This record gives sequence, structure tokens and C-alpha cells, in this order.
Amino acid sequence: MKGVILAGGLATRLRPLTFVTNKHLLPVYNKPMIYYSLESMKRAGIKEVLLTTSGDHVGDFASLLKSGEEFDLRLYYAIQKNPKGGIADAISLAEEFSHEDSILVLLGDNIFNYDLKNAVKMFEKKSLGSMVFGVRMPTKSGQYGVIEIDSSGAVVSIEEKPAEPKSNIAQTGIYMYDHKVFEYIKKLTPSGRGELEVTDLNNSYLSQGKLGCEVLDWWVDAGTSYDELLRANNEVAQMVKEGKLA
Ligand code: G1P
Repeated sequence: MKGVILAGGLATRLRPLTFVTNKHLLPVYNKPMIYYSLESMKRAGIKEVLLTTSGDHVGDFASLLKSGEEFDLRLYYAIQKNPKGGIADAISLAEEFSHEDSILVLLGDNIFNYDLKNAVKMFEKKSLGSMVFGVRMPTKSGQYGVIEIDSSGAVVSIEEKPAEPKSNIAQTGIYMYDHKVFEYIKKLTPSGRGELEVTDLNNSYLSQGKLGCEVLDWWVDAGTSYDELLRANNEVAQMVKEGKLA
């Protein structure tokens, strides 16, 4: 399995912090935000990672991360021309890089301490086409994608930022896909906000009965607002001091 980290977007919700600096380079406790995704990839046993970002910021990432030696990863870069293309559009940049392998996709502003190693092994053995990862939390209207599961843990529905969430499981920015993902992306059409939505992509797999789900204990999306960035800093500091996050 190969890794894809999405680090593009305009991050308008975090302005003025992001007028000059890419959101994923902002500090979270003692490191730039992007370090956490790279460390999660390493923990999962992934060796090759493609980082997608805008042409304006790719130089900053290359100066900081170089070829990935510090993380024991081989790092590649791809440029997303349209920063408002959406998550599925950014994933499509990995078609050549993935070379028929399956991919682990992480949104570069998501921080978690869950070890994905077993999930990677299971995914490669099983016949699932895609995996989503959720976290139980108060799901406020319009904040996150929401995953509904039945008593056996099977996914019933996923809705993108619903006004009335059907469950208390937020969809995180951690996804696994088989190589068919690029065919599915080509069939997507832009949503109301003009983006190719990851939730529509996941629903393509759900409608084929090929979507699995795991629920994590702790996760934070540092990139949605100043308050979530502050929460990420505080919770990461606490987790590091308690030895729950390296
Ligand atoms: C994206 C997804 C959403 C998910 C969230 C997690 O939202 O569309 O389903 O819950 O990431 O970080 P966005 O950050 O693009 O608004």
C-alpha cells in the first residue's frame, strides 16, 4: 500500500494565519502540523508517500521535508492546480504514483494516535474496496461528514456535513482505497460547494457493498477553525506529556 497526504486548499477559515503560510505548516504543539501525518504513515508501515499541495507552497514543503529521510519515507510531491477542486480531485493526482497498488489517504490536518498497521494488513487481505475511519463525538450540524453504522459495525450511510446528523460518528480524514478509486473519481460530479467530495467517493464503494469502517478513540481535525487548532494544540500537548503520542 502507498500513502497519499493531502496538504493543499486555501484554508480561508484560518485567515490571516494562512495568507502566506500553508495551513499544514502551522505549529501544533512542538511540530509543524504535517509532521503528524507523516509519522502516522511511518507507524502504519507505509514506505512511499505522495504529498499533494498547491504550486505556491510546494517549495516550502520540499525545504522542510526534503525526500522524507527524517521519517524513513520516500516522499514525492504533486501539485493540485485547482485548490478548490476538493479531496477526491486531489486523490486523483495519485493515479500514476499508486501504480495499481491500494492507497492510504490522510488529510494533512488530521491528527490521531491510532496505529493503522493492522488495518493496512487487513485491507490488503480482505476483499473490501475502501475503508473509512470514524470517531464518536458530538456531531454538530454541518461540521463533519457523518457515518451511520448498524449493530454489526457495517456502514448504513455516510452524509457530507448533514444539517441533522444520523449518528454521533464523525468521518475522519483517513481513508483506504483499492486501485479502482480512480475510475470512481472520474464518474463524480462537483457538489453544491463546487468540489469533488470524498463522501460521494465513499458512497460509490458503499453502493457496491465494498466499504468497511473502523471507529477510533481520539482524533482531531486541526484545520477547521481557530478553536479546533487551539484544541489540537492543547490535546496534543496533553497526549505527548502522557506518553500517548510521540
Ligand atoms: C472533509 C470531509 C468530511 C470530513 C472532514 C474530516 O471536510 O469532506 O467528510 O468529516 O474532512 O476532516 P473538509 O475539511 O473538506 O471540510
